[in-house]
Amino acid sequence: MSYYITTPLYYVNDTPHIGHAYTTIVVDVINRYHKLFGGKTFFLTGTDEHGQKIQNAASKRGKPPGEHCDEMVLHFQEIWQELQIEEDFFIRTTMDFHKKAVQSCLQDLYDRDEIYSKDYEGYYCESEEIFYTEKELVDGNAPTGKPVQLIKEKNYFFRMSKYQDQLIQHIENNPKFIQPDVRRNEILGFLRQPLTDLSISRPKSRLSWGIEIPFDSEHVTYVWFDALLNYATAIGYKQPEKEKQFKEFWPECHHVIGKDILMTHSVYWTTMLLALGVTLPKQIFAHGWWLTEDNSKMSKSEGTVVKPLDVKDIVGVHGLRYFLTRDITFGNDAQFKTELVVGRVNTDLSNKLGNLLSRSTNLVNKYFAGKCPPPNITKESSKSLKILGETVAEEVREHVLNMAPQRAVETVVKLLDETNRYVDELEPWKAAKENLPLAGECLYNTLEALRISSILLKPVMPIKMKELIQTIGANSICSFEDSKKWGLLEEGTSIEKSEPLFPRIKA
Ligand code: MSP
Repeated sequence: MSYYITTPLYYVNDTPHIGHAYTTIVVDVINRYHKLFGGKTFFLTGTDEHGQKIQNAASKRGKPPGEHCDEMVLHFQEIWQELQIEEDFFIRTTMDFHKKAVQSCLQDLYDRDEIYSKDYEGYYCESEEIFYTEKELVDGNAPTGKPVQLIKEKNYFFRMSKYQDQLIQHIENNPKFIQPDVRRNEILGFLRQPLTDLSISRPKSRLSWGIEIPFDSEHVTYVWFDALLNYATAIGYKQPEKEKQFKEFWPECHHVIGKDILMTHSVYWTTMLLALGVTLPKQIFAHGWWLTEDNSKMSKSEGTVVKPLDVKDIVGVHGLRYFLTRDITFGNDAQFKTELVVGRVNTDLSNKLGNLLSRSTNLVNKYFAGKCPPPNITKESSKSLKILGETVAEEVREHVLNMAPQRAVETVVKLLDETNRYVDELEPWKAAKENLPLAGECLYNTLEALRISSILLKPVMPIKMKELIQTIGANSICSFEDSKKWGLLEEGTSIEKSEPLFPRIKA
């Protein structure tokens, strides 16, 4: 079974902040889980490089837009590499193949009268690049409070309204199509009003930085129409030589986006696909926002954005990836504070996981010459731990399939908590002096719990968990199937004495 997951394409008007890093990290984590479960996966991310916002940002820096994009995109690519993001393709909407494919879609829709031209008057919000009708304005501004200006011009329109009923039906027949439910209801509510057609062009006289409309060289394509199509063009749509890949991954597609861009994805994108005759993707999942200390969305203009690398420098890549996956219910908002990240990393990674590892490997080195003791289950508590350990993998899988990565991580933490309790109960450091087989039993089972936990946390902290797996000599027993079985570690395997894997961080 193939699995295709996407992040939004980020505007290259500025460098990435924690909100962008969040979507990209969580999508990377989910994708790595799917890879672990087996099956072929494709993870797409990239940058949105056309439109007014980018043209303005470039002119502010006194650069031609193309040069501006070439420079800005490097920030995204470098940061993603530092954050251990492993995408299969990084698309830039200025790439030639994408531009050609967008033009081919436009021509196709125009030839079939799905696109028409008319003179248009509307209230345009430049920062959102969205037109509003007078009725939609709130106190003379966009519903978001951003300023608008009245604009009159010739525009090309996509017959979006024609697909309203078909879209409603699809959302109603497929309860998981838009998630979480609160977002699904929001869109169904929005669709109770008649849908208008969508302006998909901008006159070059006002905005030249865009993909030229193939049937009118005086106009460029509206940036959202161009950018949304990336999800299909990136894997081969409208490119005969990549047809096989497109068929392999479409429509097994899951779009992860922030809740602020739900409408463009759930209404514009879906109706575009219906008009093009392409099956709709499997799911659009809208996550919440990381908020500042006074509970507002981080904003560049207010100077409240957090830079991902600043946090990484304090807690490490693993700490940042762990916190962003673990500390927010996927779909909800949460507060971002560096102290919270430090607290979480110390509690879960240093105290629960790191301690367990150093305690057990040190004792194995001290009392068993660094060799894994024999498997043994004589105690009731050993039996319970084994039973729990054998069920964790399936539970993790269920949570990931339900787009609840935070619950997947919590499930592993539950196993770590139980294992710590188990070690406290059997006290192997004492038992080693009076009852060596009991100490061996306890340490063997602890190592097994660590092996299973590290396999199941590897998508979240790939490098750290690889180190852990290596420390306990489990390199050849670390597949997903191996994480469902208890007792795979062989007696006599060399267990390294580990350096603290997660040293405590000072706040
Ligand atoms: N370019 C469009 C998307 C086009 S997709 C075909 C865009 N770009 S963006 O750079 O402004 O935002 C990208 C994503 O970052 C959005 O999903 C947005 O929700 C997310 N975040 C921006 N700030 C955020 C937080 N403070 N918290 C979480 N995510 C937020 O929109």
